[in-house]
Amino acid sequence: MHARRALLYMPGDDRRKIEKAASLAGPGRQPQGGVDCLCMDLEDGTALNRKAEARAVIAAAMRELDFGNSERCIRINSIGSGLEHEDLAAALAARPDTIIVPKVENAAQLTAVSAQIEAYELANSLPLGGIRLLAGVETARGILNLKEIASADKRLEALIFGGEDFAASIGAVRSPEAIELLYARQALLTACAANALQAIDIVCIDFRNPEIVRAEAEFGARLGFSGKQIIHPAQIEPVQTAFTPSDEAIAYARRVAETFEAHQREGRGAYALDGKMIDLPLLKNAQKVLERARAAGKL
Ligand code: COA
Ligand code: MG
Repeated sequence: MHARRALLYMPGDDRRKIEKAASLAGPGRQPQGGVDCLCMDLEDGTALNRKAEARAVIAAAMRELDFGNSERCIRINSIGSGLEHEDLAAALAARPDTIIVPKVENAAQLTAVSAQIEAYELANSLPLGGIRLLAGVETARGILNLKEIASADKRLEALIFGGEDFAASIGAVRSPEAIELLYARQALLTACAANALQAIDIVCIDFRNPEIVRAEAEFGARLGFSGKQIIHPAQIEPVQTAFTPSDEAIAYARRVAETFEAHQREGRGAYALDGKMIDLPLLKNAQKVLERARAAGKL
């Protein structure tokens, strides 16, 4: 799967920001190898009276700009908004890597979008299943239906948790510690892990202070998220760094993997390493660290 440590949004009608995003994409353009994913937004980042303009701006940008090897995503409006059909038709014609559906509340919404994508692939002789899907789950109903949403469709590669939308959905007051979101974040993480999906964490709207987003991203990574939504170029470095295993974490994971093998051969399932007990779950965790390091191009 494509690494999705940072998913940078830009309003779909803002050509200047899309150009700026293209300049931040691709390997060698950033210390961590360019922003992993870009999302041109037709939903809440674009004003209601600018949706048609945004569809046209995105189409032109996709034709004319080089986004390196960053994933090119387009976010459509939610199912039932009345905008989703025109959005999806315009988005597919722009040939994105990935469609993002926000505020998904049940499996049928995703399978319907997937069927429309398949019809487009067939009609245009594109490889079947080539266009990927990411789903925002960010309402009370969506969280209740995570089990069916997470297993809804083969195209689905990640679920995205929208903190501001979820807080609005349940009437919570957002706090810097985000304790009011913890249950939903962990529910989404669990559904993702059970279905081998990536989990993408909340936006940090305080974009002027990189230390705040860094701390929030590090906490998200500890919870088990594979990446985070971002809204400003200054958030790329702290977020991609937080979701890339450190050299020490990689070295330790390698030692666990090597020593585990050696002890297995001697017939020992549990053993001590640096004064701590190691057994199978710790090996699995170490393998996850190595997987993430590989996805981030560090191995
Ligand atoms: N993507 C690409 N470039 C961006 C960007 C983004 N999301 N946000 C800012 N930039 C660019 C600006 O264009 C500017 O470049 P320039 O000087 O060459 O024009 C530079 O980064 C600095 O921008 P800054 O002045 O610090 O921010 P701003 O006040 O112009 O914009 C926001 C602040 C929050 C409005 C803007 O970051 C934004 O639109 N973010 C995305 C919002 C969004 O899509 N929300 C929906 C999903 S949650
Ligand atoms: Mg939202």
